[in-house]
Amino acid sequence: MSERETWATRAGFILAAVGSAVGLGNIWQFPFKTAQFGGATFLVVYLVAAFGIGLPAILAEFVIGRKSNLNTIGAFEKLGYRNWRFVGVLGLVTGFWILSYYSVVGGWVLRYVGGSLTGAYFGDSAAYFSSIAAGPDAIALHAVFMALVVGIVAFGIEDGIEKATKFMVPSILVILVALAAWAFTLPGSGPGYGYFLSPDLSQLRLTVATTDGFPFVSFGGPLAEIIPFAVSQAFFSLSLGMGAMITYASYIDGDESLFGDGATIVVFNSLIGILAGLVVIPLLFAQGVEPGSGGAGALFISVAGAFASIPFGRVVGVVFFGVVLVAALSSAISLLEVVVAYAIDNYAVSRPQVAVGLGAVIFLLGLPSAWDTAWLTWFDNLAYQLFLPLSVLGILVFVGWVFGRPALEELLRGTSFGHGVGATWLWTVRSVVFLAVVVTLVLGLVTLFG
Ligand code: PFF
Ligand code: NA
Repeated sequence: MSERETWATRAGFILAAVGSAVGLGNIWQFPFKTAQFGGATFLVVYLVAAFGIGLPAILAEFVIGRKSNLNTIGAFEKLGYRNWRFVGVLGLVTGFWILSYYSVVGGWVLRYVGGSLTGAYFGDSAAYFSSIAAGPDAIALHAVFMALVVGIVAFGIEDGIEKATKFMVPSILVILVALAAWAFTLPGSGPGYGYFLSPDLSQLRLTVATTDGFPFVSFGGPLAEIIPFAVSQAFFSLSLGMGAMITYASYIDGDESLFGDGATIVVFNSLIGILAGLVVIPLLFAQGVEPGSGGAGALFISVAGAFASIPFGRVVGVVFFGVVLVAALSSAISLLEVVVAYAIDNYAVSRPQVAVGLGAVIFLLGLPSAWDTAWLTWFDNLAYQLFLPLSVLGILVFVGWVFGRPALEELLRGTSFGHGVGATWLWTVRSVVFLAVVVTLVLGLVTLFG
């Protein structure tokens, strides 16, 4: 058996993990969800969820990965809990599932890079989107996107993923800053900042009401809807519950502060979501478009439509969709790596072979989503409302109650923190984080089956 791979540098690990976190979730979903849920109100709730719940959860995944130095399923066995391998299986399946349709959206992005160059969508942006989003075209581009993902993963941890993300992540940051500065100069973009960033505190109000004589506390405004969404969004956005952070942490070689790494990742992930909002929301306002519906429509129809009517629209379009593409790729490679790691840890197979083989299987699983966007929505809903919270719950229960004390010691390794810090983390995992996930899961199930 050959030596297991490792990251060449600590920065390499952090950049790869940021690359996994920063993706379509930040650029495609985050700005529009923020706008839709009352701007800064959602932003505040989201940031609390990302740091208060996402950070402890990402540390839980890091602990499992670094302590075991194995793939997301083998890790549980290596730590001495063979019966808990199902949690790893759940994460692996979730990652597989998500990557199948994420790659279809990645294909759309590829198409929009080309479409910006030729001006293909400049005429009727909505008609263009529906002509490419589903059917043979979408399948072809889904194949191209998966091929790119396979190409990077086939080169391995240090020569593939680390080298690629070392270049990708800084580019995303620099280009988004430049685009945000450019959006600021557009006439009419001004009110967009208010829309994106002004809080509506009435939505955070608590009210006491009675039903059939029983008093109960409720939130004024849609906070009861915002909180579970913010929690799911934080998990998705931080690539939790998909095996990705466990797998990436399993290639860490050495004692470094997992706290520092985790915090850096949460900060950058939040920052890039906000930056993306500072690009797209003002851009839409400059075009006189209210970012209403969100989702696919918003990014691919409204934002693309805006490029048709601004100076240098083609150049800006290529740059913008180029950034979205890089972000999507650096996320997708982390999910393919989850399954590739499992295969090469367990079987005598070469990395390139496995990357191609599993890439092909994921491509097939994505065919329904590429054929009809209704399937894509169904895959996405199931992931968000069932697989993700269930998988994160499994990890929390394992780390919080089953693994417990050794997890705490592993977390403190490489830091100067005392025992109290680790104990606080474990306590947070068992209480606040656990509760938030249970509530999110229950509400998700109600939405799915209710
Ligand atoms: N963290 C990613 C994002 O915010 O877009 C989520 C993700 C999705 C990661 C799909 C990887 C992936 F293949
Ligand atoms: Na993200």
